[in-house]
Amino acid sequence: MGFDAIEVITTKRDGGELSTAHIDWVVAAYTRGEVADEQMSALLMAILLNGMNRREIADWTQAMIRSGERMDWSALDRPTADKHSTGGVGDKITLPLAPLVAACGAYIPQLSGRGLGHTGGTLDKLESIPGWRASLSNAEMLHVIRTAGAVVCAAGSGLAPADKKLYALRDVTGTVESIPLIASSIMSKKIAEGTGSLVLDVKVGSGAFMKTVENARELAETMVALGADAGVRTVALLTAMDRPLGKAVGNALEVAEAVEVLAGGGPSDVVELTVRLAREMLEAAGVPDARDPEEALKDGSAMDAWRRMISAQGGDPDAVLPRAAEFVEVTAPESGVLATLDALKVGVAAWRLGAGRARKEDPVSAGAGITLHAKPGDLVRSGMPLMTLHADETSRFARALQALEGAFEIRPSSGSGLLPLIIDRVTA
Ligand code: URA
Repeated sequence: MGFDAIEVITTKRDGGELSTAHIDWVVAAYTRGEVADEQMSALLMAILLNGMNRREIADWTQAMIRSGERMDWSALDRPTADKHSTGGVGDKITLPLAPLVAACGAYIPQLSGRGLGHTGGTLDKLESIPGWRASLSNAEMLHVIRTAGAVVCAAGSGLAPADKKLYALRDVTGTVESIPLIASSIMSKKIAEGTGSLVLDVKVGSGAFMKTVENARELAETMVALGADAGVRTVALLTAMDRPLGKAVGNALEVAEAVEVLAGGGPSDVVELTVRLAREMLEAAGVPDARDPEEALKDGSAMDAWRRMISAQGGDPDAVLPRAAEFVEVTAPESGVLATLDALKVGVAAWRLGAGRARKEDPVSAGAGITLHAKPGDLVRSGMPLMTLHADETSRFARALQALEGAFEIRPSSGSGLLPLIIDRVTA
């Protein structure tokens, strides 16, 4: 059935409910170019302001899935699992997690994205490994999964094309921050990717999309319900993003930290979250006789899976990672306990150093970023380095240092009011 775009827009503008037929039509017609950008912009703003109910969100998600191909991994002989993070600063968890869960018995078909703004993208991080290729055909994906147990690559243009067009429009019309639109955008891609189970890492805090636990919970509940309705076993964790994750922020710096975790070391928060997410993924996937993730980190089998995964995509796991030419240290102005370290300010500083991009087509610097020498809760002495800033050009330091103004507090004693690393778990 055909509709008039104005009828759909005014229904939502006036606080009404869009029918399944309205939603199917407007998403398909917009993808074909028959509904104009200015009309879809008006509808997106009406959705942002007036919301959508669960049925409308489910219909919107299904319409976006139907706009493209749906991948199928039923030929594989083990359960499939995936993880999606809503994005944060220093969030390199996919890098150790995918090979770790593969080493424990599941297959991981993970389609990832690039960073935009202050949050980094998994593909940008992996591309700092010399030779590594993000774009694979479906046949190549299957080959990498069979070789390594896990594949992390770019989504092809055939997957949820409606979301690609809508996301680009939301980005320039101030309509990204809508829970129904974020939930349907993420879940349409994950359901179309064909994973049997999904663990969502919904970040909370200054460095995340969701600044409060309440909003994060609503997003998590919406996505978990969408997954369950589509037959994907879905669980969500709400996790802290009021401070950066780990001690490395920036593409190659984060790859190096991920390799430390795979070698049995690494910062305790990265290890704890990786192991917890691995356990959740193995449980959601229902892997019979799954191996213990802590064991797989200790005995080197997760590292072996990482090396196979990187090599199968043309990368050299032994290559020396790129390093930025210039560095500057930020030192503690006084002694005490590092009470806070703001994730957003650190993310913006790393972005200005060259680790992130302002526009989709911009290149990123592989070596740029920030190494943290202290984390909230640590004792620091006046004059000791708190962080090292890395960039390819010295001209980048001034604006990065500006972003770090007020980024941390040193107090005489602890008692910081930080969020717990793992705040809550949401199931269907
Ligand atoms: N990530 C997505 O894929 N979509 C959104 O809307 C927000 C974050």
